[in-house]
Amino acid sequence: MRKGILFAGFVVALVVCFGCGPSTPSGSGMEYQRVASGVWKVEVGQPDKVNLLSELEFTPKIDAINTLDEVDLPVDKAEITAEVFDGKTYLRFPLDKEEKIYGLGLNFKSVQQRGRITRLHVDHYGGSDNGRTHAPVPFFVSSKGYGVLINAARYIDVFAGTSVRKDSKNPPKLQNRNTDGDWNPQPYSDNLEFLVPAEGVELVFFSGKNMLEVVRRFNLYNGGGVLPPKWGLGFWQRVPTLYSDKQVEEEVNEFKKRDFPLSVIGLEPGWMTRSYPCTYQWDPGRFPSPDSFVKNMSDQGIKVNLWVNPGVAPDCDIASEIEPFTGTHTEWNGMLPDYSMKETKEIMGRHFEKNVISKGVSGFKMDENDGYDSWVAPDVAKYPSGISAEQMRQIYGSLMQSFMTGLYREKNERTYGLVRAGNAGTTSYPFVIYNDYYNHRDFITALINSSFIGVLWTPEVRASRTSEEWLRRMQTVCFSPLAMLNAWADGTKPWSFPDVERQVGDVMKLRISLIPYLYTAFAHYAFDGIPPVRAMNLEPGFEAEVSYDQGVLDSTDNPYNIARRQEMKDQFMVGESLLVAPLFAGETERKVILPEGKWYDFYTGEFAGEGEIITVKPGLDKIPAYVRDGGIIPMYEPGSSIPEGPAPVIVRHYGTKASAYDLYDDDGHTYDYEKGAFTWIRLSADPASSKGEAKVPEGGTIWSFNDYRFEFMTKQ
Ligand code: GAL
Repeated sequence: MRKGILFAGFVVALVVCFGCGPSTPSGSGMEYQRVASGVWKVEVGQPDKVNLLSELEFTPKIDAINTLDEVDLPVDKAEITAEVFDGKTYLRFPLDKEEKIYGLGLNFKSVQQRGRITRLHVDHYGGSDNGRTHAPVPFFVSSKGYGVLINAARYIDVFAGTSVRKDSKNPPKLQNRNTDGDWNPQPYSDNLEFLVPAEGVELVFFSGKNMLEVVRRFNLYNGGGVLPPKWGLGFWQRVPTLYSDKQVEEEVNEFKKRDFPLSVIGLEPGWMTRSYPCTYQWDPGRFPSPDSFVKNMSDQGIKVNLWVNPGVAPDCDIASEIEPFTGTHTEWNGMLPDYSMKETKEIMGRHFEKNVISKGVSGFKMDENDGYDSWVAPDVAKYPSGISAEQMRQIYGSLMQSFMTGLYREKNERTYGLVRAGNAGTTSYPFVIYNDYYNHRDFITALINSSFIGVLWTPEVRASRTSEEWLRRMQTVCFSPLAMLNAWADGTKPWSFPDVERQVGDVMKLRISLIPYLYTAFAHYAFDGIPPVRAMNLEPGFEAEVSYDQGVLDSTDNPYNIARRQEMKDQFMVGESLLVAPLFAGETERKVILPEGKWYDFYTGEFAGEGEIITVKPGLDKIPAYVRDGGIIPMYEPGSSIPEGPAPVIVRHYGTKASAYDLYDDDGHTYDYEKGAFTWIRLSADPASSKGEAKVPEGGTIWSFNDYRFEFMTKQ
């Protein structure tokens, strides 16, 4: 096993600072231990030994955090209080009148969290933002410029601006429902409160000169973002569950024939002899020669990704060996390995290495480690490490990610895959979250929310009722961290809707062209903690207008239902300067909010607007996308495959400002970049003279590019 740095090893001695009675919450008694520039830890009561980070292997990027200017917490510490009572830890943070709260899990319907009550619990998302989700990360980001991680692997209750204390400094207006027309069913609250079912908790505070900087610190503290192998940014197709090697080969040929991009083929449960529970061994009927199958794919530049879920089958070769290291309960009759234990990692690691990784398999889709309650082990289960079932539920997906990442790190090969559960501490792991909840609009809201909590999300495409919906879904997935069609159930292909085949092919090819830009965006995620796909609210200087309207009294519905705020739920940023505003089936036009400064149409370079709301009618062919003034977008020449060796890069410049951009390059697939094997190429472009320049630092190695062709998109 790789000797990684166990997170716990990094923790500096903590000061136990709690000492107040049950009814006197203490703000001043909490001691802030500085960890890095703008990062502090506070220990309240007696925190659990196991937390969200303690069992994971990753290295916090403290040096990178320290390059950011020190910023004080913009909140009166005396007003932050904590107390342990009834075996639980109660936490309170003050809220200002206009303060907004973001984060708090991978939500699908809401972005702003003030006004919500949730219980953060790992689960398959069930259609409402009640805290049960794939990554219920207990990290909030305040619009005031700070954020807090409540580092407990527990089901945490959140009251985000919903409760009113008698001793409130800013109590709500006293009203009379009988006479006040504007009686407010949800009185104003100046509290952000949490209840952690444990006798103490570690808190980690992050400050920043804006919300993006808070998120950057959080991401870097969690190990920095993922840098996927370059192939991971190509197009992925998952084939029907019982496909054989021959059928996969036919499918790959069909992609070629139609000139559709394909980088990764995903095999679903049928690749193995048994699934639900799993043997993790190739089925000799469907895959008689896995070695030559994987090699054949690899010779065509295609990686193979395999579906797995956590349950080990009794007829798996290592069943009896792993049994002592599994929990008391099963998932679909599968034993659940306790991935916090070194023995488990050794036994399962050996099995995965022998059966799949040594054959050249590029990674995994780790399914169902979130679990509905009826699937996974219940909370009465016990695990050999002594970690409680509640804690295990909160970190199971994180543990699997840590384990799998370790196996590939050992080979100095990057992997990229999918997972159904994550939490704090998984930011550096090369896995993207997906699910079965197939709502296009909500998938985009999740994409936006993922950027506050240090995880990646893909709005994967499966099926569609109409060709319009199909194309709209394909357009959005091509602007996400992982562009995938998941045809496991019904065998859809990118060309399944012939009337939009060309447009689907075009957007898939656009995805391939954008790889130099996307890869650079991911490099900023890894090195600087900047999410590659981000909420508009994380753009410095930009906040959506939020109106706290009152709800309408309705006798058929919940009369206390407060109206939701206007939120930025359907447009987002990709990389440094691209704004994407998807359309959904049934829409022919939409409003796009352009932040301050001038913005230009991505496709034509024409001026689109400046700090304003525009209405656009792009037609079916295009997903609206805009570039800010001076934005530089490096792209491969149009084509259906990722160039293998050095290739020309087209450097698009937008707008009227002279500007510069750093293009990232490395070998694209190993971890050598962590030891310094990378180069930033400075691209400068001046539209006034139509001149551009690419500067490689002296002695810098270039792996991917051999020519830089500047294109000034905006006519001056
Ligand atoms: C689901 C998963 C699908 C597919 C299926 C296979 O849980 O979300 O994408 O993999 O299992 O059984």
